[in-house]
Amino acid sequence: MTRSEPLATSLRTTLCGQLRSTDAGSQVRLGGWVHRARNLGGLVFIDLRDREGIVQVSFDPAHAPADVVARAGALGNETVILVEGEVVARPPEMRNADIATGDVEVRGRAVEVVGPATPPAIPVARGKGENLAAEELRLRHRHLDLRRPELQKNIMLRHRLMQRTRRFLSEKGFLEIETPILTKPTPEGARDYLVPSRVHAGEFYALPQSPQLYKQLLMVAGFDRYFQIARCFRDEDLRADRQPEFTQIDIEASFVGQEDIMALAEQLIGQLWSEAGYTIPERFPRMTYADAMERYGIDRPDLRFGLEIVDASESFRAIDFSITAKALAAGGRVRGIVVPGGAKLSRKQVDEIEAVARSAGAGGLVRVKRTGDTVEGSPAAKLLGAAGATTLGIGDGDYGLFAAGADRITSPALDRVRQEVARVLELIPAGERKFLWVTDFPMFEHDPATGALGAVHHPFTSPLPADLPLLASAPERARARAYDVVLNGTELGGGSIRISDPETQSKIFALLGIDEQTARARFGFLLDGLRSGAPPHGGIALGFDRIAMLLADAPSLRDVIAFPKTTAARALFEGAPAPVPPNDLEELHVTVVERHA
Ligand code: AMO
Repeated sequence: MTRSEPLATSLRTTLCGQLRSTDAGSQVRLGGWVHRARNLGGLVFIDLRDREGIVQVSFDPAHAPADVVARAGALGNETVILVEGEVVARPPEMRNADIATGDVEVRGRAVEVVGPATPPAIPVARGKGENLAAEELRLRHRHLDLRRPELQKNIMLRHRLMQRTRRFLSEKGFLEIETPILTKPTPEGARDYLVPSRVHAGEFYALPQSPQLYKQLLMVAGFDRYFQIARCFRDEDLRADRQPEFTQIDIEASFVGQEDIMALAEQLIGQLWSEAGYTIPERFPRMTYADAMERYGIDRPDLRFGLEIVDASESFRAIDFSITAKALAAGGRVRGIVVPGGAKLSRKQVDEIEAVARSAGAGGLVRVKRTGDTVEGSPAAKLLGAAGATTLGIGDGDYGLFAAGADRITSPALDRVRQEVARVLELIPAGERKFLWVTDFPMFEHDPATGALGAVHHPFTSPLPADLPLLASAPERARARAYDVVLNGTELGGGSIRISDPETQSKIFALLGIDEQTARARFGFLLDGLRSGAPPHGGIALGFDRIAMLLADAPSLRDVIAFPKTTAARALFEGAPAPVPPNDLEELHVTVVERHA
């Protein structure tokens, strides 16, 4: 090899996937997996694979001893072999534009099996258009699935994103500091994973839902700027974009305001997107939480398409339609979206969109379809007539869809309706990226079941200074110095400026119903820290897996995590969770109680 080859070892000279036409004429030793083998009656072709890619190796009786050709012809898929041979340029008509090494092949002279393989339980090599095996099967045989070039690429991208993060933040003066995994419960709103202590009967560690308290204490300790690529654990209902154990880029800095953290996060995100080959805007637009809820019904709106929510209450107040009248009389509103050109939606499509609204909690949708001056759909449509439709912005060929009721019902329903209409009408341009900051979150929300106040972000988030007086009079109206960064409707990260004054912190605990004794027991170390000289500080955490998933263009977090869990929080490959022998449980002072349904 002429090129310097950092991955050369005593067994190989280079990696399969790195060979190019400039290597023609060189002698190589390769090690890899048999991706595919073809035996054309004495002429054998092996696609040899390693993490860098695939190269074709030919074994031809004209260039290799007969026993070598025979041995090559008998190789099964996924066998690990060492090959020796010469890189030769392929004749133009034999070039394969589908693979990076397609201009060359290796003329094999010797082959040795170093890792025999039983026939793989799931195929690694796939023909064009051939489907993947079922995901459950692939997760069970993760070592084989991980050999797939797509997953190899994702995991390598993940590595690069991590290194870029470390480099960027280190250059900005952030120190990478590890925080404990065996810790105390941290309040991020999910259930904790608990670990029983053997030494202290009846006591438990909690796995961290985030390093939140530790990073604040690192600021109190004077480290000024901290980051960690931190593993977090949350026992919560899982979805495609959630894992019970996941990774955050966790950041905290001292003597900062909201703008400093937001600017830093924009730069870091820019670095990560550039690592994956994309240029994104330097600054992201902003929207307040109140605005996002009003216009999009959700705190992480997808701005790749319009369909903004409008308040149609006044138009509906003017007509005599019982469903909307009842909702309005109860203090609710009628809100909805106008779908330009939506009159072309079929009845079945609108039925499906309405089903989505119902599944999100709405009673149904009022339909207003306009063609020329004909306004039809729900009974209310006729009552609105062409004039009412015009007032609502429903022009010729448009379709209005409205939901009546309290905002807490109609907002989530209309969010889903927006998304469903965009999907059905294919309104989302491919490759579009709409970053957004959502700011001024409320400090608190009421638990719908108990009515108790809970923290929207977490209890250490500082109120907006202007809203401090509201803490005493109307805490539910107080806004926080909290911000989320959103891309195309996915929350990439969130953070806040923290409370650095122990009095305010105590006030917030009291509002959250955490009495002094509980506050001491749970967060005493933080309170002591705040009393011992705390700088103003704040930070953010970015969901690293989510970012890797989006940059890999992967449909699930499982495609960017080497050993992920299923949506039922199981690790199928290693078989976790698993029962534990009774003796071990006894040592941990744990009794398992059988619960019968
Ligand atoms: P938060 O809870 O918003 O903030 O989490 C930050 C980001 O982490 C990602 N994330 C997840 N990713 C995968 N699976 C999950 N189960 C999961 N849960 C969260 C999301 C989210 O935006 N301590 C605060 C941060 C701070 O205030 O600095 C925190 O953890 O992308």
